[in-house]
Amino acid sequence: MATFTTDVLIIGTGPAGSATAALLSSYGIGNMAVNRYRWLANTPRAHITNQRTMEVLRDLGREVEDEAYMFAAGQELMGENVFCESLAGEEIGRLKSWGNHPLSQAEHKLSSPCMMNDLPQTMMEPLLFKTACARGTQARMSTEYLSHAQDDEGVTTTCRDRLSGAEFTIRSKYLVGADGGNSLVAEHCGLPFEGEMGVGGSMNILFKADLSKYVAHRPSVLYWVMQPGADVGGIGMGLVRMVRPWNEWLIVWGYDISQPAPEVDEALATQVARQLIGDPELQIELISANTWTVNNKYATNMQKGRVFIMGDAAHRHPPSNGLGSNTSIQDSFNLAWKLAAVLKGQASEGLLDSYTAERAPVAKQIVTRANQSISEFGPIFESLGMTEGVKPEVMQQNLEARCDATPSAEKQREAIREAIAFKKYEFDAHGVEMNQRYRSNAIETDGQIEPAFELDAELHYQPTTWPGARIPHVWLFEHGSGAKHSTLDLCGKGRFTIFTGIGGEAWETAARDVGEELGVPLDVRLIGPRRDIEDLTGDWARAREVSDTGCILVRPDHHVAWRTDSLTADPAADLRRVMSKILAH
Ligand code: FDA
Repeated sequence: MATFTTDVLIIGTGPAGSATAALLSSYGIGNMAVNRYRWLANTPRAHITNQRTMEVLRDLGREVEDEAYMFAAGQELMGENVFCESLAGEEIGRLKSWGNHPLSQAEHKLSSPCMMNDLPQTMMEPLLFKTACARGTQARMSTEYLSHAQDDEGVTTTCRDRLSGAEFTIRSKYLVGADGGNSLVAEHCGLPFEGEMGVGGSMNILFKADLSKYVAHRPSVLYWVMQPGADVGGIGMGLVRMVRPWNEWLIVWGYDISQPAPEVDEALATQVARQLIGDPELQIELISANTWTVNNKYATNMQKGRVFIMGDAAHRHPPSNGLGSNTSIQDSFNLAWKLAAVLKGQASEGLLDSYTAERAPVAKQIVTRANQSISEFGPIFESLGMTEGVKPEVMQQNLEARCDATPSAEKQREAIREAIAFKKYEFDAHGVEMNQRYRSNAIETDGQIEPAFELDAELHYQPTTWPGARIPHVWLFEHGSGAKHSTLDLCGKGRFTIFTGIGGEAWETAARDVGEELGVPLDVRLIGPRRDIEDLTGDWARAREVSDTGCILVRPDHHVAWRTDSLTADPAADLRRVMSKILAH
């Protein structure tokens, strides 16, 4: 049996696997990615791409970020989340979503150099995969993972070449299971999970039809349709989702999970499309249709020895809040630099323990939030008297009754308004997307208390340099040229970075000495007037929460590892202590 060798073997080339491959290759780490199919995602599936994910793409290079925007539907086309009886029928209400409310827009702009956008998985995956392969990833398609065995030195994985049927082994130092919601890698490791699979049934119908006349005046990615059956299975209500404006669409429609999954043929697909769009004559060009289950399950440990799981392999949940591929890509940003540091001999394997410590709480949080978002459609049904399933005659009565000039109609109007506004926890939950703060051995708080959230932590991102949080974004300027850079542009890219200011020059010497000693390059950004980088707007001084001579040590994934308010008595000793802890020396 032939044997290949690589440093990191990645099973799966979905968003998680492709992002891991792209990051490892960018960090100069040998890796191989295998996929049992001959190509990447064949349906658009994930699409909402949040700012934190775009920051990962930006870290891979401005050309990667720019290409994503080029293929994406822009944020301005995502904003009018519509609730209606059908696309052609009466509109019940609307919610400004995905950072398009002027107040949210300001929060988005203040939080990140990147923009949220709608990038179908069929475009995200090729972008990440291409980046990986161009930078060194060895990719093998039509290659199926079968099993693995690990020992003290590495992992031996058995795969099958699906073209020839031949089995072969790959010897790697680490194995990453990015093999999706039915992860065999997770199963073979016996990793612990909480929750359950198959709590609801859903079908996806992908088709082409020009629906401009129903949607162009209220541009959105999501049109929610309340019809009989809309509360059964599925993701809370019937959904007509824009894939490409305004002629490619994906309908998500539920089915009763206690019954066998329906056979979605052209006739059923056309019937559902006509029903939700409200046009009995509509002709669709069906691209594909399939059924899937709503899951509510997350791993409480994402590592066994030399094997890691990430993405849907670790968190299995409905698409609500658009967290699927975002969280998968963010998992990879957390793990890739740690694997690189260990493989380069900069850190010991203890650093890898921080992966579960940091990402398992995120897995739990997003699985819980996504499932909660489904149930939060309930008040909309209730406000229209649909407590026992959607009955068209009851709905019509209530839609009519809400137009009356009576106290009860006024109350109903208020109930509908409030129920729709409450859905901001699914469609404008900036905090869920951006507030991830880590606690692990790869973070040193020195006992500093975590700042409490001043606003709702699910809805609003709160910047802080408290160790564990992502470094706040502000714009800084190159001395002389005036070129503008985000704080996130001045760190990351596989390297540790220190931010300090005038009077903090001793951190430069300390970084050089400790960096040489530990074999870890430590970049220093000294920010101040007539220094290389200037804080012309004062935004950095307001965001950094330390004084000019203080130090903020940032990890390669933009998260703050340690900070101190001002110059310490022995900066090199402090830096050595903290870096040694983080790198698990
Ligand atoms: P993903 O499942 O994308 O990739 C797994 C990879 O592993 C694939 O390349 C696969 O071929 C490979 N693989 C699996 N087993 C293997 C084996 N034994 N050997 C070799 N390769 C193997 N999310 C969202 O935000 N909005 C949405 O509308 C939807 N809709 C949706 C519909 C359906 C039907 C599904 C299944 C999922 C969604 N999602 C979604 C979820 C979203 O697509 C998901 O979160 C991401 O794709 C997760 O990315 P991963 O890379 O973790 O897994």
